[in-house]
Amino acid sequence: MSSDTFDGLVAIVTGGASGIGAAIASMLRDRGADVAVLDLDPSTAPEGTLPVTADVTSDASVRAAIDTVTSTWGRVDIVVNNAGIGAQGTVEDNSDEDWHRVYDVNVLGVVRTTRAALPYLRLSPSAAIVNVSSIAATAGLQQRALYSATKGAVQSLTVAMAADHVREGIRVNCVNPGTVATPWVDRLLDSATDPAAERAALAARQPHGRLVTAEEVAGAVAYLAGRGSGSTTGTSLAVDGGMSGL
Ligand code: NAI
Repeated sequence: MSSDTFDGLVAIVTGGASGIGAAIASMLRDRGADVAVLDLDPSTAPEGTLPVTADVTSDASVRAAIDTVTSTWGRVDIVVNNAGIGAQGTVEDNSDEDWHRVYDVNVLGVVRTTRAALPYLRLSPSAAIVNVSSIAATAGLQQRALYSATKGAVQSLTVAMAADHVREGIRVNCVNPGTVATPWVDRLLDSATDPAAERAALAARQPHGRLVTAEEVAGAVAYLAGRGSGSTTGTSLAVDGGMSGL
């Protein structure tokens, strides 16, 4: 994985106050970027980042947050669309309201943040967007119909956005993590009848025999955001212990 530096660049990480987003924000900060964390509750954003309250389901909220970032630092070079929520169930279990609610965060959240940042990305010599999809986009996981559909949409959107903006010098890629040890997964396990057995089953599902770490996902995001991947656009990088490829 490359160890690009991001000195002089400004990065935005949505959902950066927890889990994968916090690991991404920390890594980009450590490599020299000025990092803004846009989150519903940015109070736990990593130290040394700019916490900005934002709800990706509101166009006005996202635009106000980008205004805060640009009035602080005057530019945006990297956008990491990471904010997302989960849903369990088959198509019989989730209501239309569930579909609209989760799609609004996981898909339209990417659209709104990207739309607000694009005018600034066009001015950057190192513009990159990295979307956080999931292995659920393609893996055929049980009880994840709605969630998988939203992550499939994120993957398709990545390819479409890459095509639209490649000639403007803006690269767009996504990462597809397997199951990652984050507060989200802890919450899921807490609600299981046998959390230890459930955790072991999740680990065993991935051929390398463990959960992915948030830092491993952050490393992949940093690679796709950095100059070392300058000829890579429209791709999905799996970070899943071999789950999709073996
Ligand atoms: P998390 O629940 O630990 O963190 C998500 C963050 O997003 C929270 O800080 C939350 O406040 C924020 N957020 C939620 N809705 C928001 C909204 N409307 N506006 C702004 N911020 C909002 O979750 P985790 O596990 O770190 O997941 C992050 C991303 O990674 C999500 O897109 C998820 O789908 C994806 N992912 C997670 C995997 C896992 O196993 N944990 C696997 C594959 C993908």
